[in-house]
Amino acid sequence: MTEKDILREKILHLKEKRNAIILAHNYQREEVQDIADYTGDSLELSRTAASIECDVIVFCGVNFMAESASILSPEKTVLLPEITACCPMADMITVSSARHLKTQFPGYHYTGGYKYPADFTLKDIKNLHPGVPVVTYVNTTADVKAESDICCTSANGVRIVESLDSNRVICVPDRNLSAWIAKNTSKEIISWDGFCHVHDRVTIDDITTARNEHPGALLLAHPECRIEVCERADHVTSTSGMLRFANSSDIKEFIIGTETGLLYKLRKDNPDKLFYPLRKDMVCPNMKKTTLHSVLHAMETMTYKIKVLEETRLPAKKSLDRMLAIK
Ligand code: 13P
Ligand code: SF4
Repeated sequence: MTEKDILREKILHLKEKRNAIILAHNYQREEVQDIADYTGDSLELSRTAASIECDVIVFCGVNFMAESASILSPEKTVLLPEITACCPMADMITVSSARHLKTQFPGYHYTGGYKYPADFTLKDIKNLHPGVPVVTYVNTTADVKAESDICCTSANGVRIVESLDSNRVICVPDRNLSAWIAKNTSKEIISWDGFCHVHDRVTIDDITTARNEHPGALLLAHPECRIEVCERADHVTSTSGMLRFANSSDIKEFIIGTETGLLYKLRKDNPDKLFYPLRKDMVCPNMKKTTLHSVLHAMETMTYKIKVLEETRLPAKKSLDRMLAIK
């Protein structure tokens, strides 16, 4: 038996003993995706967390995802195997305590220019636009969700905005997702200035290079990519949207504009098709922190438990539930 086989056996044994379910985001390492009961995009995993019967959820992803699972299912124990697995974009917005972007990202060169002062908060943008509903991407902390009207994911952003009874909508924190939503709705979108460092690095030059290398391939892009990238893609969708699109397409080659972890499932589901990363360095270091070792450690020690205070959980759940109610 290999070391991986031994780890897998131990995890499966503990899964049974603890009545646990393992959820893994589509960006997780191959061996973690393989041990999971469910893999999916943020929306699918939220729906699963809300409906699944079990005592323990082991969430292989980043902290806001485990937090959402705990918000939706407070009676279950939710474990995040790697406590430092976070989403830098989620940390780009806070409710009221100012945090400076540059101190969060020492050495990260952001050339886009701020729309607001660096210590601007969600409360500030709400005060600037009183009465305008706030749509919050699930890539946020529980307290930001709690201060919002409704959540969205990359799979349903346009639908969520369209569902609101207002012609002006505040969208936080991803400026790229906001730009994509703005392009696909007639409503006025007031955007925050956050971004995902994995997707925001893609440029038009990357598209030119990839299309020259793979002239017959379709380009699928995630809406966390910049608007000029999305505008040049053949299809813009969430990670599971890409899986569905590629699985049902007659086309045999695809350039994939999202985190490279998705290539594993794309190739597994479509052995007759070819998938190329739009950029080989589209790797989210936080998504890659979770290993079979950390999953086993989480289940042996029942760490790290993710729990949200009731005063935050209840309003945050309202925002998530409103999103989940929209088909
Ligand atoms: P989806 O899988 O929902 O498209 O989200 C991408 C992502 O970046 C999650 O962190
Ligand atoms: Fe956050 Fe981007 Fe990593 Fe997703 S891929 S967790 S948005 S940094």
